[in-house]
Amino acid sequence: MYEEVIKRIGALRLIPVVKLEREEDAVPLAEALCRGGLPAAEITFRTDAAAGAIRRIAGACPGMLVGAGTVLSCAQAEEALEAGAQFLVSPGTSGRLLDFASKRRVPIFPGACTPSEIMEAMEYGCEIVKFFPAVPYGGVKTIKALSAPFSQIRFMPTGGVSEENLKEFLALPQVIACGGSWMVKESLIRERRFDEIEDLARRAAELAKEEG
Ligand code: 3PG
Repeated sequence: MYEEVIKRIGALRLIPVVKLEREEDAVPLAEALCRGGLPAAEITFRTDAAAGAIRRIAGACPGMLVGAGTVLSCAQAEEALEAGAQFLVSPGTSGRLLDFASKRRVPIFPGACTPSEIMEAMEYGCEIVKFFPAVPYGGVKTIKALSAPFSQIRFMPTGGVSEENLKEFLALPQVIACGGSWMVKESLIRERRFDEIEDLARRAAELAKEEG
């Protein structure tokens, strides 16, 4: 499962980062993303609806890659896996979480944007880190600089990635995929504008594909 998840992320090249308030919106949202050609979602634990949303998507859309984001504790990680999450993402590097994920053999992408954080992630066997927040921390330039000492690490830039800069990030060989929320904006979900989400996902998937 570990390798399969990494392969799918590397093929999609873009993971929508989702925050939703109502569990009921999860399946229509997932279906819109699938219709748009972006069958993946990182459901963030920023609301109480996260675990329920993951469970609903995993049940109704088995072809979709669904993971948990903003995972801050092992309790949340446990809840996410129990709901059916296939991968975990955290905003920072936590030894406890990395230990948990390695024991459970589940892919985890810890947030890391300094050499020390990357080294800590490496100690737990991570080869891919979420470079977060990507744009405020120097974007492409910083990833290139970090890649000099960490040539084996691949990055998932997230935070400030948009239609305008997506291709710049994806053009870097060190970047496996980007995370972004522009195609699944909170307001679009809240107002149930799933057709617009589908259109934005389609445009985003096409942009990601152009960069190969
Ligand atoms: C995340 O936690 O991954 C970010 O909040 C997503 O960043 P974005 O909203 O700038 O895409």
